[in-house]
Amino acid sequence: MTTQTPTGKASSDPPIQPPAIPGLPDAATLTRWANEFFAVVPGARSGEPPAAATAAVTQAPAAAAGSILPVNDLSMLTAGSLPRLSAGELVHPILPVLRSYPPPSLDAATPHPAVATGAAASPAFYFLQDRQTLPPAGTGHPAFDVYTIRRDFPILATHVHGRPLVWLDNAATTQKPTVVIERLSYFYRHENSNVHRAAHELAARATDAYEGARTQVQRFLGAASADEIVFVRGATEGINLVAQSWGRQNVRAGDEIVISHLEHHANIVPWQMLALERGAVLKVIPVDSSGQIRLDELQRLVTDRTKIVSIAHVANALGTVTPVKEVVEIAHRAGALALIDGAQSVSHMPIDVRALDADFFVLSGHKVFGPTGIGALYGRRSVLEAMPPWQGGGSMIEDVTFEKTTYQPPPARFEAGTGSIADAVGLGAALEYLGTIGMHNIERYEAQLLAYATERLLSVPGLRIVGTAAHKASVLSFVIDGLEPTAIGTALNQEGIAVRAGHHCAQPILRRFGHETTVRASLAVYNTCADVDALVKALRELTASPTRAYR
Ligand SMILES: Cc1ncc(COP(=O)(O)O)c(C=O)c1O
Repeated sequence: MTTQTPTGKASSDPPIQPPAIPGLPDAATLTRWANEFFAVVPGARSGEPPAAATAAVTQAPAAAAGSILPVNDLSMLTAGSLPRLSAGELVHPILPVLRSYPPPSLDAATPHPAVATGAAASPAFYFLQDRQTLPPAGTGHPAFDVYTIRRDFPILATHVHGRPLVWLDNAATTQKPTVVIERLSYFYRHENSNVHRAAHELAARATDAYEGARTQVQRFLGAASADEIVFVRGATEGINLVAQSWGRQNVRAGDEIVISHLEHHANIVPWQMLALERGAVLKVIPVDSSGQIRLDELQRLVTDRTKIVSIAHVANALGTVTPVKEVVEIAHRAGALALIDGAQSVSHMPIDVRALDADFFVLSGHKVFGPTGIGALYGRRSVLEAMPPWQGGGSMIEDVTFEKTTYQPPPARFEAGTGSIADAVGLGAALEYLGTIGMHNIERYEAQLLAYATERLLSVPGLRIVGTAAHKASVLSFVIDGLEPTAIGTALNQEGIAVRAGHHCAQPILRRFGHETTVRASLAVYNTCADVDALVKALRELTASPTRAYR
């Protein structure tokens, strides 16, 4: 094997804005009133507001919202270069509570959040009454309210070391909404059976649920057919499947595999193993000083020997959103296939594998509010059909004799043995849940939260953000002068704040920026500016008294 190391999303929807309602105070006034209200509600600043207070959420003033979205361009990051944002503008950046939640539905087909417009929908605050009749933001989704979403995740009410949990380790794994927890329970209570194999009722129920989940993944990814969705354990297994099945069939000595410097080990090691076995060359797309991949270098790297370009959609260590559509185009122009590692993108932005023209796309269920032990590999039908099985056993065969075995078509060909049936069903429930919120809404909200968090973190003395690409998603990797990342992580844990401190299974990219480890705070749809404030407060206290980190 040879390794060549480097030498050297925009949403089409308009920003969420409250429509102008005659007689309704403007957004700035609402924000001020809400802030005054929060100022007198005990605890409203330090964590989740009491239930009554959640009705007082207001949207950030339109000007502020408009000005912060471009701040996702962080390439010139300094504390002074960002527009001034205050927690008051962003603690509750979206629309007011407009809906009440029914108890979690066990019926996956039931739309989850109902839009409530009656008096019972939210407590009566004189300044919000008219707004209860506002239509939801975005198209076809209920209004986005982060505090309502938080109530869907029971673990967020947990305390750690006597403090309310602040979960900022979403890039490692996400928390699970009640609909997913209940769906797993319902499966084991009412549907549990192996799938595809028996004539009895429970086998039919389990098979329906399992195949229904496959269709949910198909829709979520925009795939043309459910047959293009293979259930795997996660992104890691999806990449290994492609490397071992497609790779062994198609990669020969002297052929090239292209990855980027940003990759998680899951998108490095399987290709290294393949390259070693086949005598192929592993090439690495370099990144610029902001942590974005260099498309000009990619153009130079791909040749007619390039068989596949495999790249992260969102880099787990830095948060860079890579230009995957362009990467796919470049790969295809060279006659190569393209794999997108979507492990870190699926929970943050809409995905359309057909629009991206990807040949493969992988995801992990646990990073998208679903269970662990389940994930999905999307493969273009024509590509999957030409691939040999990678594991042998039950379920994947058509006919077996001692002389010869014939195989099922995809996806069954790639699902030997009994899969994680209930977890697949849970994954389907998680994706359906996200569908009710709307991925465009999530993307917009998180862009605002990331801008807020970036600015606030830069106010911590000695803190440097690692990874400042113009297009980032929900990851803040940082170091602080004089403090070890692991010591910071341990100290934050004492405050109930969960972040990751380490190499994030992405050693090459951290080393590219001169670090063995960083602290990584990673955001998700249920995080708030209050979470960010708690992190920043704890970090400021730590930098004021660094010995606390080593106690
Ligand atoms: C970008 C990326 N790819 C792949 C993986 C591997 O995911 P899993 O361990 O769920 O298979 C991760 C996990 O952090 C990741 O961030």
